[in-house]
Amino acid sequence: MKATAEAPANIAFIKYWGNADANLRIPYHNTISMNISGATTTTTVEFTSSLSADEVFLGGNKIDGAGAERVSAVLSHIRKMSGSKQYARVTSSNSFPTGAGIASSASGFAALAVAAASAAGLSLTEKELSTVARLGSGSATRSVPDGFVEWVAGNSHETSAAHTLYAPEYWDIVDVITVVDASEKKVSSTLGHSLAQTSMLYKGRLASMNQKVEELKRAMTDKDFARFGEIVEEESFNMHAIMMTSQPSVLYWTPVTVRVLQALRVWREEGLLAYATLDAGANVHVLVQGADVAEVEKRLKSLEGVKKTILGRPTRGAHLVK
Ligand code: DP6
Repeated sequence: MKATAEAPANIAFIKYWGNADANLRIPYHNTISMNISGATTTTTVEFTSSLSADEVFLGGNKIDGAGAERVSAVLSHIRKMSGSKQYARVTSSNSFPTGAGIASSASGFAALAVAAASAAGLSLTEKELSTVARLGSGSATRSVPDGFVEWVAGNSHETSAAHTLYAPEYWDIVDVITVVDASEKKVSSTLGHSLAQTSMLYKGRLASMNQKVEELKRAMTDKDFARFGEIVEEESFNMHAIMMTSQPSVLYWTPVTVRVLQALRVWREEGLLAYATLDAGANVHVLVQGADVAEVEKRLKSLEGVKKTILGRPTRGAHLVK
């Protein structure tokens, strides 16, 4: 009744922002991401008759409140599937320092889903595991399959699931995570999703998404990095435009964020292909081809206000560990 799983964070190329069904975390359109090494969560789940409630520990500290409730929601779903009534002890740790501003619910809930299903004696398919992870956090859906991943929006719990587009080895792309602000984000993604509809730009965003997904997939098939980067950077700006124009407005960027974004434009004019994508925070994920990592990292570190860089290479999805 005990199992341990490890899962990576992922960086979205096509973003999930806004829910068609907030309870089930079903998005309005498909999204695409890459699982990244360098930011993983390891989670052990043990179901035992000795507990009268679920217990959650992260990095040695007991978690209460909303975070623990989200974990229990996933565990309750697993209990329903297995017919068990036992509560669980969940022990989780991140490979990256918490408070680095890159903490990700994606790695956490993907590891939880895989460990909990195994601990409960269930043998679920990868697709089913991705749906269970989704109940904890939308982006966790994509941290279950390997490599480059598409989350198909679907229209029900069973159909909103992720699958691998390409194995990690398919394309040597690196996410140079550029940390400019290590503090906790001020507006959670969960709250942000609920505000998306209040932006007058959101309708326009939704109308463009299916075509954008297809165009990105084509750029990935062709391994056309410049086209890929242009689509990914536009997509991130598009999502941040929704954030900035929702009511209330959410602005995640700092002056250093903008400094990095401006620098990338200058470098691209010089022929160095590096493109930005940002999640719900100030840190910039700079996407480059493998051969350019050292040069881009050096340049990023020389920018005033950049605290550090962390490399995320394409990697496998959530899996059990001994
Ligand atoms: C900006 O998956 O963190 O990173 O489902 O409420 O946990 P919850 O939201 P979350 O949202 C991710 C938002 C994003 C874009 C993305 O990863 O697709």
